Amino acid sequence: METELPHPDEVSLNGLVDIWATAQAAMQEGKTRMLSPNAHKIPPTWSLGDLAQVYGEDYDKLRKRLAYKASRGGSDLPVGWFKSPDGELTPNDGSTKGRVVYKLAEVALIVKALFPDWVRPDGVDGVVVTICNYKGGVTKSTSTLAFAQVLSLRGLKVLVIDLDSQATTTKWLVTKHVREEDSCIKIFAEQAGSLKDYIMPTYWPGIDVIPAHDLIQTAESHYHNLLTNVGPESVQYFPKEVRKLCSEYDVILIDTPPSLNNLTLSALFSSDGLVMPIVPSNPDIESASNFWRLYIDTCKALGVSGDAVLFQFVRILISKADMALSSTQNMINWIQESYPGKVMKTHITKTAAVARAADSFGTVFDEAKDLTRSAKVARDQMRSLYISGAAELAQLIYTCWDKAKAKQPTPATSV
Ligand SMILES: Nc1ncnc2c1ncn2[C@@H]1O[C@H](COP(=O)(O)OP(=O)(O)O)[C@@H](O)[C@H]1O
Ligand SMILES: [Mg+2]
Repeated sequence: METELPHPDEVSLNGLVDIWATAQAAMQEGKTRMLSPNAHKIPPTWSLGDLAQVYGEDYDKLRKRLAYKASRGGSDLPVGWFKSPDGELTPNDGSTKGRVVYKLAEVALIVKALFPDWVRPDGVDGVVVTICNYKGGVTKSTSTLAFAQVLSLRGLKVLVIDLDSQATTTKWLVTKHVREEDSCIKIFAEQAGSLKDYIMPTYWPGIDVIPAHDLIQTAESHYHNLLTNVGPESVQYFPKEVRKLCSEYDVILIDTPPSLNNLTLSALFSSDGLVMPIVPSNPDIESASNFWRLYIDTCKALGVSGDAVLFQFVRILISKADMALSSTQNMINWIQESYPGKVMKTHITKTAAVARAADSFGTVFDEAKDLTRSAKVARDQMRSLYISGAAELAQLIYTCWDKAKAKQPTPATSV
């Protein structure tokens, strides 16, 4: 006798809607649980020891320099807060001995006082850097965020523009629900409006974001039509809007989708610098080389002349390097041979510390609960890698500023 086989795994469209709804609800609930007690991300505080690590300075020297500045009338220099073991902050009135920490806004004042060379010169624009690679999972978003955080700790005012419909950076920077109209979809789809209107503050004072939404990829098809029907000038709207924000921000980091689509192209046409994270593995290296060919062909098709300066700098960031694999060093050597002079000195290694931080919606620079001693050591090792990567990026930014300053007309001297 023939029996009808059951199909326990059949999924109808309505079934899929149910799966999606359950996943959405569970995801939100999980996020709330992980960000307990108040479903907000808490901006971390910084001890002078932490800051010494970020600035590559000796702790005692930093402490003495700060005390000297304060004694020379630096009355607006913050005195910090006492942090109790359970994280409670009380104003530092000098009466208690204990761990003194500074809030992010206070860190900005300390940097300004101690490192005046790191401040953007008057009349010079902020620098726009796109982090891109048309592969997914190569650490574009993680690098964008970690660099944004360290550059902010170095006193720079940072804007992150998220153009990836996966919205990873957005979800890490903004805990509230981001609606479609909060993202800059219209800027692409309609070539209208001001990018400024989409800027949102984040949990991290000193970093703002223009958020992405799952539907930002729908802008891609509108944009493609514009490109076909209106022509190359349609690619210029977003870059012009980005450049308008450069007087307001010291650095604008653009996180991009894992493809060389029109959104990524717009980001690249807006940028002074391009940073491409590459995982040192065979398929990743090959795919990066395809990226250049596609980008070059697209520029030519858009009529960009061979002499036109596209970027002030292009850098490869070796990232998520699995040093447990014997082949990794060979792959790193291959990348260095492929991009002479363009590979950042810092190599970001693959480690559970970064993945663990990501599971709590953050990076190694975020507040972490209940870290064991060894987890803290691993976290600090990763911090120092991102710190030196961001310091390299900062040097490139300062070079752009120096170049722009040198081009400024010298003020007429009165006779
Ligand atoms: N150094 C690292 N070590 C281990 N895992 C990492 C590291 N950097 C990033 N990751 C993890 O790799 C995954 C992809 O990173 P992500 O930044 O989202 O890449 P992309 O934006 O290129 O898609 C994430 O799960 C992230 O936590
Ligand atoms: Mg990403």
